[in-house]
Amino acid sequence: MIIVIIGAQWGDEGKGKVVDLLADRFDIVSRYQGGHNAGHSVYVGDKAFVLRLLPSGIIHPDKTCVLGNGMVIDPKAFFEEVDQIKEKGVEVTPERLKVSSRAHLIMSYHRALDHTSEERLGNEKIGTTLRGIGPAYEDKAGRRGIRVADALSPELLKLRIERNLEEANRIIVLFGQQPLRADDIYNEIAPLVERLRPFVCETSHFLASARKMNKKILLEGAQATLLDVDHGTYPYVTSSNPTAGGASVGAGIPPHHITGVLGIVRTYATRVGEGPFPTEMLDAEETIAHLIRERGNEYGSVTKRPRRCGWFDAVATRYAAELNGFDSIALTKVDVLDELEEIKVCVGYEIDGVRIDTFPAVSHDLRQIKPVYETLEGWQSSTLGVTDFDDLPEKARSYVKFLSESIGVEIGLISTGPERDQTVILKDSVMEGWFAG
Ligand code: GDP
Ligand code: IMO
Ligand code: MG
Repeated sequence: MIIVIIGAQWGDEGKGKVVDLLADRFDIVSRYQGGHNAGHSVYVGDKAFVLRLLPSGIIHPDKTCVLGNGMVIDPKAFFEEVDQIKEKGVEVTPERLKVSSRAHLIMSYHRALDHTSEERLGNEKIGTTLRGIGPAYEDKAGRRGIRVADALSPELLKLRIERNLEEANRIIVLFGQQPLRADDIYNEIAPLVERLRPFVCETSHFLASARKMNKKILLEGAQATLLDVDHGTYPYVTSSNPTAGGASVGAGIPPHHITGVLGIVRTYATRVGEGPFPTEMLDAEETIAHLIRERGNEYGSVTKRPRRCGWFDAVATRYAAELNGFDSIALTKVDVLDELEEIKVCVGYEIDGVRIDTFPAVSHDLRQIKPVYETLEGWQSSTLGVTDFDDLPEKARSYVKFLSESIGVEIGLISTGPERDQTVILKDSVMEGWFAG
């Protein structure tokens, strides 16, 4: 069994919590794209973890974790995270953590270029995490990136750094920064690459062999559908493909071996960074946004930036369901809406008075959208920690059903708090089958 977990909105839907929960029933958890721009929070007892590069399955000592070929890996960030997690009592050894030899490395000049690119864009900036993600993927597509396997050869590593830096320094100097020195970069990265060596693996072969042995594999998406470089709100996106097709490429798994796709959807939407957000709560709704931000702790788990908050957008989520082929949905953060008197759901878009039911390609159009809302009554009582669907207030159950119908996909899991056991698994759902293993 191979299941992919994908964020349906603009990220931070609660993928970490759901992966951690499901990981118990699986053998292997693999990331397939992105890098340490992700921040997946998991709470276990009194311990809080924020996973950036490492799959959320790492917390389970008996699970194997994989960093797939589609990822971009900053070796410094990798070992910082490994060391942090070890301090919390989690054992991380090459036996249970595999890094693809085909993944690309994020170098210090990628971080510098991420900064200059954002500065150059000024008001049009993307609002990236400044981790060097975009420039590393640019080098990959430009066929000059440094892959983990290349870096293991000191001569090749040196050569590639020298060659790539010539070009990078031209841009860095143009923006008034000091040029970087190839020797410094090599001397910093070479020992880290040596430390990485025992973790390096032909991960697609590893996953294929595991599948043949009937091992169960979870593919953990980072970022989300609307941040996908092809399908998201381009150019306000990340530089990889979090969508289901990306899982096949980024983990090196044939598409027909993937048995199911789980979408993670919040009861509302958030966005970090710039870019169109049709249902954003602005001006008059700033008080509600503030309430949600505080109740839902909507601050970036990596950058600590306050997340922009908005109403649930059924048009955008239907689009995500269609693109990814969600078999089931995990709906998170029901408890965050507990105090609201009324809850709005965007059921359609209008541009220049004309109703549209699809998600437009052009970010200019997206900015002009007037959301068409339906207003539902809030339940105004606590759902925190509820574990049985029938124990949810009637209005909360209606809200869940309304969302499921408006997306056209079953909701198989409802999250009622950040902890593992604050979860409802819906009876007779596809999700229940995966959970049973
Ligand atoms: P991810 O990037 O998709 O893994 O999501 P993040 O971890 O960045 O952000 C989700 C936040 O919501 C984290 O702080 C989670 O602990 C928290 N969370 C997840 N599910 C729930 C829930 O059902 N209720 C509440 N109150 N918090 C949740
Ligand atoms: P998780 O996995 C939310 C956003 C950034 C920026 C854009 C591009 O925790 O859901 P990048 O540094 O990737 O080039 O930035 O993408 N972004 C995220 N937003 N959650 C994330 O990850 C994100 N990763 C990147 O804020 O708008
Ligand atoms: Mg996150």
